[in-house]
Amino acid sequence: MQKRNILITGGAGFIGSHVVRLFVNKYPNYNIYNLDKLTYAGNLKNIKDIENAPNYTFLKADIVDANQINNLFEKHQFTDVIHLAAESHVDRSITNPIDFVMTNVVGTVNLLNAAKNLWKNNLSENIFYHVSTDEVYGSLHDGGFFLETTAYDPQSPYSASKASSDHFVRAYHNTYNLRVVLSNCSNNYGPNQFPEKLVPLFINNIRNNKPLPVYGKGENVRDWLYVVDHARAIDDVFHKGRIGETYNIGGFNEWTNIDLIKVICKAMDKKLDRIDGESEKLITYVTDRAGHDLRYAIDAHKIMKELGWEPSLQFEEGIEKTINWYISNEAWMNEVTSGSYQNYYDALYAKR
Ligand code: NAD
Ligand code: TYD
Repeated sequence: MQKRNILITGGAGFIGSHVVRLFVNKYPNYNIYNLDKLTYAGNLKNIKDIENAPNYTFLKADIVDANQINNLFEKHQFTDVIHLAAESHVDRSITNPIDFVMTNVVGTVNLLNAAKNLWKNNLSENIFYHVSTDEVYGSLHDGGFFLETTAYDPQSPYSASKASSDHFVRAYHNTYNLRVVLSNCSNNYGPNQFPEKLVPLFINNIRNNKPLPVYGKGENVRDWLYVVDHARAIDDVFHKGRIGETYNIGGFNEWTNIDLIKVICKAMDKKLDRIDGESEKLITYVTDRAGHDLRYAIDAHKIMKELGWEPSLQFEEGIEKTINWYISNEAWMNEVTSGSYQNYYDALYAKR
């Protein structure tokens, strides 16, 4: 197996931690460098199990700081990048778009520049893999699915910043021959997701008998994929994806928010020995998110046909595993919801 020094950014976050774990365990011959700023969303406990692995190094750094990034590329001679670091929550992007421009756009361009400069004499092997979202395609209203060829139509500051970063990555391929590959994935769920996103937030609120704030009528549709299946797809795209190509990743698993929430409520009633229907009583309809995208749905045939990837888990099994994880990792949840979390929660939800 080829010796590689792979930089994974955002590896203390939700998806990044699952990607780091997979690469550290599956590829002992690769040196895995996890670069993360440790924002509110980054948590080294997410990857505690591999922190002492001989092929793993953690680097605390901010991708917005170009000097710091250039120095790290020089020092560690990264051969490849798998870029996941981002500001990732739509509601926060509505409150504070500039953080999204800085990390998602400027941070990505800093990484592209550092890679271009280090790899300039050896543009035949290195890979710059940019991990993106289906939200860049905008909102589906009349059926159909997002294809890799669907025109970009981002609607939130978050998706606009991700779309912009995707364009820069493609521009560096086109202009400088940087060997890039991209993937755009649907909504992920699973262990270690920060409880600002729907699934862990609702599990935590049910556990604490707090209201479940459903935006609008709960009729928005999302396409849900278990996070480990996304990490497996990233492994496939990194090793087998064609340079310059984009791969859409999704589980063909669409749910309206309200139906998904009812599944979570039912499963939680069972786990917590509550009467069937008790958690559903916590559902509270609140003011809709501004510019709320109606439906996302990925057509994942390209990655399935070309790279042989497919989801390993049915949704029922995935949600069961997820709920079990949050229930048996109360300490993790209590820690991430202490401190500034309460201020965030009050500021966002009091207004609704
Ligand atoms: P997350 O918010 O859980 O984690 C982001 C990580 O990036 C954190 O560890 C954070 O500390 C780090 N980070 C943020 N700003 C940084 C900076 N300036 N410098 C260095 N590190 C920084 O996000 P996630 O849900 O794991 O998403 C990871 C990636 O996958 C993102 O690029 C996101 O756009 C994409 N994505 C997410 C989903 C989803 O459902 N969560 C779906 C498709 C694509
Ligand atoms: P989220 O997990 O924030 O992901 P995204 O907006 O990136 O798809 O939200 C998933 C869906 O759940 C989305 O339609 C918004 C909705 N939602 C609520 O109804 N209430 C909430 O408190 C949150 C966080 C989300």
